[in-house]
Amino acid sequence: MESGGALAGLHRNPTFHHLLRPPRTAVNNLLSSSSSTYKRHFSPLPLKFQKQSHFASYSYNCSINDGSAFQVAYSASSATQSLANIDWDNLGFGVMPTDYMYSMKCSQDGNFSKGELQRFGNIELSPASGILNYGQGLFEGLKAYKRHDGNILLFRPEENALRMKMGAERICMPSPSVEQFVEAVKATVLANERWIPPPGKGSLYIRPLLMGSGAILGVAPAPEYTFLIYVSPVGNYFKEGMAPINLVIETEMHRATPGGTGGVKTIGNYAAVLKAQSAAKAKGYSDVLYLDSVNKRYLEEVSSCNVFIVKGNLIATPAIKGTILPGITRKSIIDVALSQGFQVEERQVSVDELLDADEVFCTGTAVVVSPVGSITHLGKRVSYGSDGVGRVSKQLYSTLTSLQMGLATDNMNWTVVLK
Ligand code: COI
Repeated sequence: MESGGALAGLHRNPTFHHLLRPPRTAVNNLLSSSSSTYKRHFSPLPLKFQKQSHFASYSYNCSINDGSAFQVAYSASSATQSLANIDWDNLGFGVMPTDYMYSMKCSQDGNFSKGELQRFGNIELSPASGILNYGQGLFEGLKAYKRHDGNILLFRPEENALRMKMGAERICMPSPSVEQFVEAVKATVLANERWIPPPGKGSLYIRPLLMGSGAILGVAPAPEYTFLIYVSPVGNYFKEGMAPINLVIETEMHRATPGGTGGVKTIGNYAAVLKAQSAAKAKGYSDVLYLDSVNKRYLEEVSSCNVFIVKGNLIATPAIKGTILPGITRKSIIDVALSQGFQVEERQVSVDELLDADEVFCTGTAVVVSPVGSITHLGKRVSYGSDGVGRVSKQLYSTLTSLQMGLATDNMNWTVVLK
């Protein structure tokens, strides 16, 4: 991590006139801002900013649930553009504190408003909060890539917003509108621009959270909700990097059950995989592949990603029927595969079919497209391909990442250019 931490970073960072909690010394200047939003949200922090020259600016319009609209004005000095001082060649998938996080609370009327950028740091929660006591919380994951021309690309952020809405409905939480979600993501990414890896070195992982932050003792929805976004520069998810991963099939523990919450991104779904995952890792496997809890013979997903099998020209993946997370990478890979002439089936996929496949790969925001080198089931190991990554996995990975990184023309209209 860079020495000096977030405070040092703030001296060189963008100013969001409406969203950023300003320093005391900037009060007079900012109060003359035309933004009513800013005035309502003002809550100064004792930060110090240095004067900057050679400002570049960027702005976009934003509206919030209470009907008001505002413009997010982004001003960055040339110094702001200088990269964080970290080892960009050795990024893994871990938390690296950056400069800012975004926070927005839900008022009593069920609407989110008053979002603001704050310094990245710990948050305060009641010990009785819904998230801590009853796991009333969701998360999302998406990535921002830096292009060679300096532009920043987001990949289908509105899909994450919609999935959060779906999950929120399942566990009785209000959720930000799609527009609020996407604008908050944009603001957070721009505020942390110097943490976006250079092209080819990785991406900025964006982690939106929605939680019951209000105190509640009896089992019931919390009285207050917080939407929060933090970011971290990341490289490959698996320690294998781009090399194929080795999975073991879990036959006793299950990730999800029919009627449960496996189909939405609740935080608890991920706690449920830790025991089997830890045991598998201790035995040298990369991760665990779960089976359905009823028949115990159909594939579900891996701890953090969806799974696909390839047999000839056929690609199959478990259908979304309540226990499978509707991955955005999963959905994108299906569309890419169809556009390349593959036959794609979303249905039950049995263990027998898996063990007989030509190739197996996993998909997810964090893992992107991760080829599987072997699967172990009841002590029997089946390997895929003789020379590393399978042809289909490689082809789909290459097409998807070229789109995400802005290396190919986006005929799908999936990418959002930030600046
Ligand atoms: C993602 O792929 O973004 C996820 O949400 C998986 C996460 C558990 C690392």
